This record gives sequence, structure tokens and C-alpha cells, in this order.
Amino acid sequence: MSGQQAFWNRMADRYAAQPIADEAAYQTKLAATRRLLRPDMELFEFGCGTGSIALIHAANVGHIRAVDFSERMIEIAEEKAKKAGVENIDFEVGSIENVELAPQSLDMVLGMSILHLLKNKEAAIAKVFRALKPGGYFITSTACLSDMMPLIRFVAPLGNRLGLLPHLDVMTQSQLRTAIETAGFAVEHEWLPKKKSAAFMIARKPAL
Ligand SMILES: C[S@@+](CC[C@H](N)C(=O)[O-])C[C@H]1O[C@@H](n2cnc3c(N)ncnc32)[C@H](O)[C@@H]1O
Repeated sequence: MSGQQAFWNRMADRYAAQPIADEAAYQTKLAATRRLLRPDMELFEFGCGTGSIALIHAANVGHIRAVDFSERMIEIAEEKAKKAGVENIDFEVGSIENVELAPQSLDMVLGMSILHLLKNKEAAIAKVFRALKPGGYFITSTACLSDMMPLIRFVAPLGNRLGLLPHLDVMTQSQLRTAIETAGFAVEHEWLPKKKSAAFMIARKPAL
């Protein structure tokens, strides 16, 4: 198990119990996503955590495959799905780096609060692009830490070495948009909540 997986396993129970930091922004992002959902859609979510977002959207789509590399996060997600009687989500322990995704097989991919935690977000975004059908959506909410707290770039590596912080990619919102567009997506909607907690983007793979 990598240090990053161990970090998120340690965090999982606390993460599951803590309230949403910015409830209004959370609801706005859910609503913007919900407007694009159709009952026959195949969704994929990476870094799904305890499954909260997949569980909210499950009733409006055909099927969701949701992965997270923390076993404890997935255990909690499965318990929540069982309790809620939701049967169209497959939760899996898996990383975005290693998960296999068939080309052009997905209608939508969700990457919520995850891109800033990856060592190579460009590779992940390129993988998502390949796996989406033409016209498919990539929806992401990402902490753009370079805009929010520029000094964190000096603290983050030490915090990570001490096990106090996860690995952090300290990026600006503009760098995030560039990474998404460089993969081939068109960013159709971009929104930074008033509290500037995380930038929300709806990106679309061009239709044929
Ligand atoms: C901040 S939490 C977000 C959870 C969920 N998406 C949400 O919005 O509530 C980040 C999650 O990403 C997972 N994660 C981090 N790096 C990952 C990777 N490379 N592959 C898969 N999951 C990863 C962590 O285990 C953690 O559950």
C-alpha cells in the first residue's frame, strides 16, 4: 500500500463524519450535474471517497462504476449503498492510474475533489478523455490551491512527508483549465463559488 493510500485510509472515518464545507456550492454543483443526466447513462467516478456523490446521482442514471484507492473509503461507500438500497453502483478499490477503462464506453466521468491530489493529473485527464464517448462529459471540482493559498506550495511537501497532508498538486484555475483543454475537451461551464473552495468545470469531449 502506498503512503497516499495509507493517508486516506486513516482519514476515511473522519471524512465520512465531517459536514460539507460549503453546502450551497455543493448543491449548486450537484444540480448542474443532475441537469445533464439521462436514465440510460453509464457513469464512472474516480476518487469517489465514501460514495456520497455517486449515491445522490444513482437514481437518475443507468449505472455507475465508482473507484477509490482507499479500501476504507470503499467499505464505507458500500455500507451506505446497502443501507440506502441502491443497487446500480459498483464500488471498487482502484486507482485512476491503474483502472482499466474501455475506449469510448462512458457517457460521463466525475472527478470531484481529486485532481489536485494526483501526481500526474494530465495522464488522468487523458485517460478520461479516451474512455468517454464523443459528446461525453467530464465534470470536476478541484481545489486550485495556488490561487487560494499560494504559500502552501512550500509547506505541502513537508506536510506530506510527515503524513499530515496528502500529496498536493498546487495549481491555478487557469492551469487546470489548460490541462483539460490540452487533452481535447471544451470547457462548457466554469464556476468558482464565492468561498473559493474549489473550481467547478463541466468539460465536453467533442461530438463526432
Ligand atoms: C478529498 S476526497 C474526495 C472524495 C469524494 N470525491 C468527495 O468529493 O467527497 C479524495 C479521495 O480521492 C481518493 N484518491 C486520491 N488519490 C487517488 C488515486 N490516485 N486514485 C483513486 N483514488 C484516489 C482518496 O482516497 C479520497 O477518498
